[in-house]
Formats: sequence, structure tokens, C-alpha cells
Amino acid sequence: MSPAISRRRYLAGVVLASICALPPTISAQRAATYTPPPPDSVHAIATEHGMVVAQEKIAARIGADILRQGGNAVDAAVATGFALAVTYPRAGNIGGGGFMVVHLADRKEDVAIDYRETAPAAATRDMFLGANGKPDPAKSRDSALGIGIPGTVAGFALALEKYGSGHFTLAKLLKPSIDLARDGFVITDDVADTLPQWHRRLAPWPASAKLFSRPDGGSLREGDKLVQSDLATTLTAIAEQGPDGFYQGPVAQKLAHAITEAGGIITTDDLKSYRAVIREPVRGSYRGYDIVSMPQPSSGGIVLLETFNILEGLPLGEMKQGSAASLHVLIEAMKRGYADRARYLGDPSFVNAPIAALTAKDYAAKLRAGIDPDHATPSSELQAALPPHEGSNTTHFSVVDSQGNAVSNTYTLNFSYGVGIVAGGTGVLLNNELDDFTAAPGASNVFGLVGYEANLPGPGKRPLSSMSPTIVLRDGKPVLVTGSPGGSRIISTVLQVLVNVLDYKMDVAAAVAAPRLHHQWLPDEVRIEPGFSDDVQAGLRSRGHRLVESMGYSSANSIQVTPNGLLGVPDPRTRGAEAAGQ
Ligand code: GLY
Repeated sequence: MSPAISRRRYLAGVVLASICALPPTISAQRAATYTPPPPDSVHAIATEHGMVVAQEKIAARIGADILRQGGNAVDAAVATGFALAVTYPRAGNIGGGGFMVVHLADRKEDVAIDYRETAPAAATRDMFLGANGKPDPAKSRDSALGIGIPGTVAGFALALEKYGSGHFTLAKLLKPSIDLARDGFVITDDVADTLPQWHRRLAPWPASAKLFSRPDGGSLREGDKLVQSDLATTLTAIAEQGPDGFYQGPVAQKLAHAITEAGGIITTDDLKSYRAVIREPVRGSYRGYDIVSMPQPSSGGIVLLETFNILEGLPLGEMKQGSAASLHVLIEAMKRGYADRARYLGDPSFVNAPIAALTAKDYAAKLRAGIDPDHATPSSELQAALPPHEGSNTTHFSVVDSQGNAVSNTYTLNFSYGVGIVAGGTGVLLNNELDDFTAAPGASNVFGLVGYEANLPGPGKRPLSSMSPTIVLRDGKPVLVTGSPGGSRIISTVLQVLVNVLDYKMDVAAAVAAPRLHHQWLPDEVRIEPGFSDDVQAGLRSRGHRLVESMGYSSANSIQVTPNGLLGVPDPRTRGAEAAGQ
């Protein structure tokens, strides 16, 4: 099988964050450009030994090359993750954070690495309120106050140290990224589709404007070269000194200086204190499979398990895939899972959420008993509560190697291109992840997610996330690796991909390409992608569901492990994703 397979291209959709920060006319225009592919036109890419499926092809190929050189899935994931920081600045990053779930074949062990951004020591619970005491979204979304201490460098270094093959140094894995940053690469695909739209957010910041603009001040566009010399220098410091090259010394000083100059509160001490954390993944069973996913500070794994537990007692397999009856129960299960998310979840160092109770089968049975097959339950009847926060632009990649190790990694700057600020002299584009906190109990974020006390900002606290890197195992071996960007829609995306494969036995390519919908409890509405038939929509409306247009697209870059080899699916919704095989 050829090492890197070029794939069909579809018109790009935009993800949810784009819609938030862009004028509605542009959002609607771009959302309308996505055309669902005919189901039989989407094919998985097959390979025998190892595979990386990522949102950008150069980075996917760099990871596949590490596999080819004898690296394991973690080595390849680290190389891919650093490369995306160069080639996919929309969400790939070293200025943000994320989560990695790893299956270690020889140890028969699953681990989760939490490298989520953290609020600085000077953070306060009312930091995102305005003078009137009400949430001021501009503070967390558009100002340097929204920047969390970046976790990606610490997370990747920890992953490599603990779970890499031992044959690759950080410096070796960083080499291709340093070369790409220094020499530049030609802008194409999803970066070309999004950068011109987001340029207005980057342009006010001098280092960002310098990096992403043409000489005339307009945005770099498709075919232009993006050269990132400062980023090459920063990556070289990491290659030479490890994480200390980022969290201490000149890079840290420049980061702290740029952030405080822009009105933020991150200090060099905050950077020095940052630690990635190894956590026990959440684990549950679904129809004989083991679902392994991200624990808090992600809500993803817990909501997925709760939702699967509800669905397990329903004869989904007897309902036609994509039928109104099947979609109705999916929506009702999502609604109940998302309602609990809002009420209970947050950073586990600060909140004591009832995880065992939420993921118990008997609790799901009670929730399931409340589902009426013919009528939607109004969200207001599920909980008298209020909505959480969530940024959406993010990117997911999946890796499987020839030994059966697997990595599911989702990381993010929150909005596309983060807060828009490149820290001068570092090339590091910074996140606005603290917008994922709830500004005040009951406040809703840009996606209408509602949050409570558990997710209020605080010093050293990690904001609640929906990122859900997930590995499905059967008899202890990975059968599916998936995850997605999309803010609140990450969980429902992963849910539907898994249901399509596990319940409906769909080929993984068709499972990923099938139209998706989303309900997050509040607002009480179903967001639907194009592609559902009029009959299906009528069937949902007749049960009382309010259907509204999808808010952009998620992107579930997935790998299925079959007895005959690996099947990789770059999600067709966004241009440029690739399955690179070994
Ligand atoms: N910022 C998106 C998430 O963490 O879910």
C-alpha cells in the first residue's frame, strides 16, 4: 500500500467556532458549501502495518514516516502533533492544549494524558464578568485574559518519555517540524479555506499580522508560502532542552511578556509550574465492546458512557440506521447525557463529581425509562438548570502501529487560530481556552452550552472540555480509534460514529461520512447536517423535535482495525485530511 494516499476532496465545511466569530452571512454561506458525499463514494484507505489519520496531509505523512522507521504509535503521534502546530495553525498547536488516550498493547494498559490548558495563579472566579457583574464574553474570547497556560509541549514530552518506543528523541521527532517552520510550506486545503476569514482577528496583533499577511497587509491565501522562522527557533529550543526550552528561559519570558502586554495575566512562574497529568481513562462496556475515553477535565468520556448505557437497553439494531425512530432515541439519550454534563462536571482537582453514579448501568436504566418512543422530552423537564461553555476548533488525529498500540489525540486552541495573538519572537499562536469556563453559574457559551459552579474559573483550574479521544477495544485489542473537533458536538459526533459501526455494522468510511445531528440538552433543538431525507426530518418533527441548521462540521478522523488490516478514514467534511499508511 502506498505510504501516503491522496484522497478525494470535498468542499469544505466550517466548524462551529468559525460561526461564532464571523458575521452570520459569511457563516451561513460557508456552512452551505458542504455537500454530503454519496454514501458509496467514500472509501476507507487500507494498510497492513500502521496508519496515521490527521487533518492535514504533511503532518499525517510525517507521522507515518516515523512508523516506517520503527517508531511506535506514540512516537508517530508526537511527530504528527508537532507538525500540525506548523502546518495546521488553525488548531494544531504548541500554544494550546489537549488530551491523548493511549492503548499499550504489550502492557495491556490504557492511559490518558491530560495536557489541558490551565488558568494562571492570578485567575479569579469573576474574571470574565463585566462591570455590571454579568458575563462579558469578549473578555474570555477576544482578549488575552482568555489565554490558558499552554499544555501541548509538556503533554507530548510526557507521552514520549513514558510511552514512546525509546528509539526516538524529542529532537528527532521535532526535526521535520523545525524544517517545515523554517523553510515554509504552501498554504492549501483547510488552512486556505479558513485563514482569509480569520485574518481580521489576527491582523490587529503585530506578530500575528506579520506572520499571516501578504506584503500588502491582506491575508495569506491558497498557494502562498507560510514561513515561521520564530516558531522554528522555539521548536529548536524544545528539541535542545526538552519542555524547559518552552516553559523556562527566553521562550517563556517572551510568552509571558506578550501575554501581559496584551492584557493577560500569565507569568513566567505560571509557565514554569505547568504539568501534564497522566490519568486513568474512563472505561465502560457497550454491547460487548470496551469504550475507553477521556476523563475529566473532559466531559467527553463520561457523557459518552452515560449515553451508551442509555442506548444499550434499546433495540437500536432493529431500527433502520438513519431512520427517524433510531435518531429519536439517539437524540433523547444525548439530551440526558448533556444535561448531567452541565450540572456536575469540571476539573477533578476542584470538583467531586459523581462519576460512578453517572456511568452506572442502573442510572442509565432509569433515564431510559423516561424516553417516550413517540415524543421528544422537553429539555426543561430533564433538569431545571442552566447552560456551560465551549470553544470548538480543535483537531483530532488517530494512530495505530504494527504492534497494536493506538493513540487517539484531540488538541485545540479553542477558537480557530485561538485568540489570534502570536507571542512576538516565539511564533507561538495562543489559545483562548479559558472561554471554556463558565463565566457565571447558568451562563451559556457561544454554543449555548450551560454551566454551573463546578466549571467556574479559578487559579490552577482546567476548564471543562468536550474533547473525546476514544479507543474501542474488543477482547483487549483496539478495533476503532476516533475523536473529533467541534466543541459541544464532539461527543455527539463520536457517539454517532461508534453507533454506526458497532450497532449498524457500517463500514467505517460510511459510518464517518453519514450525516450527523446534535442535541446538547439546551438549547432544546436538534442541529442537523444536510443529508437527512425529508421523510426522516418529518418523522423527527412529528415526535416534537425542533430541527435547525447544523452549526458547521465536525471531523472524525478514524481508524478501524480489522482482521485484514487497518482502515483509515479522513473525514470528508473538511478539505485536506489524510490517511497515511505504512
Ligand atoms: N475547546 C473545545 C473543548 O475543549 O471541548
